[in-house]
Formats: sequence, C-alpha cells, structure tokens
Amino acid sequence: MKRFHWTSFDVRSLLPATWESEIRELARTRRREKDLVPTSVTSRESATVEKVPVMTVAGLIVKEELRWLYALYHGVFRDLAQDCSAEPVTTARDDRYGVVLNVQEGPAMRYECHVDSNPIEGLLYCTTHAPGDGGELVVANSTEANDVDSVEDDGSVVYPIAGNLIFFDARDFAHYVRRLVNEDALRIVAAMNFYTPSSPEVHRPPDLNRHLFGAD
Ligand SMILES: [Fe+2]
Repeated sequence: MKRFHWTSFDVRSLLPATWESEIRELARTRRREKDLVPTSVTSRESATVEKVPVMTVAGLIVKEELRWLYALYHGVFRDLAQDCSAEPVTTARDDRYGVVLNVQEGPAMRYECHVDSNPIEGLLYCTTHAPGDGGELVVANSTEANDVDSVEDDGSVVYPIAGNLIFFDARDFAHYVRRLVNEDALRIVAAMNFYTPSSPEVHRPPDLNRHLFGAD
C-alpha cells in the first residue's frame, strides 16, 4: 500500500542568527500576489474553484537577497535530501523555482490543491502555527484524492514549526495549505525543488512556470 509520509529535520543550528527577521523582511517587502487559476496539469481543485490567490517571493530575488538560503539549498539541505533517496539528488538548475518563499496572510488565502512534479520537495518552515491556528499542510494519504474535500477526508496534517525542514514525495498525493484563522497571522515557508535521475528537472511540466509565476 502506498501511503504518504515525510521526514523532518530541526535545522535551526544551521541557520544564521538573524534568519527569521531576514526572511520576514524579504516577505514583507518583495512578495507578489497572484491569482492561481487551477488549470495546470498539476492542479487538483474541484471544478467550482475559479481562482486561488497566493503570494510568492520569486526565486531570483531569494538568490540575490538571501544568499545563505540559496547556499544551504545547494549545500547542506541537498545533503539532507539525499538521506531521503536511494537515487542521486540534485537541485534545480533554474533559479526561478529552485527555492522560493510562499507567503500567506490572514484567512482570505490558502494554497492551491495540487500534486508535485518533482520527486522530492523540501519545505523550511519560517513561522510556527499551533493546532487550531490554521496554515497546516494537509496531504492526502491516498493517491485517489483530487480536491480539497477528498484530501481532508483522509489526510496527513503537518503543523509548521519554524526551523523544521521537511522532505517528501507528493507526486501522487494531492495536498494544499489550510487558511489561517487569525486576521493578522502570517505564514512563510521556503519551498525547494529537488530532482533525481528517474524524475529529472527536464520533466517539469511546460505550463508550470506560467501557472505559478505568470511567465514561461
Ligand atoms: Fe506541492
């Protein structure tokens, strides 16, 4: 039976002392809003959902302004991702989506229900959200789920804890991020794409950059 699972590392001791304030400042000043229209080959939304508003700090900005995070992605974080795979693990050549920040504010936003195209996803949580506060990552335990309701029917719930780095393979498991409960709540996660020879970067769907960033 194929069932979703994830691996978690507490990496606070690998991060600069000012990591949280640097990430919050970049998220505050450089985030861009976009309405995702869930028509990508990776989208898993019900037909009634027309758009999902999201906020992102682009990968090229992360590379320039959070150089330590870019270096960790290509260095120690890749090494930790390697512990989760029998195949050689590589980072993305394309800096537009190698490591980005996903930002969520207040109860109006959630993240799109989708499957991943990359075999290993890394998430460095930059904010903490206790049970009941919203902002959980919910991943279907079954490969059959294909929208928010079916993910919620039988899903694994990951509570974000700042400084935890998690890795998982969600190519076959639909997942989304719940809304935050409080009006002034802010959720930030650094999302990282890793690849393997059997699931390489060149297999990334051609429509995905346009879908996520509005450009090819
Ligand atoms: Fe994902």
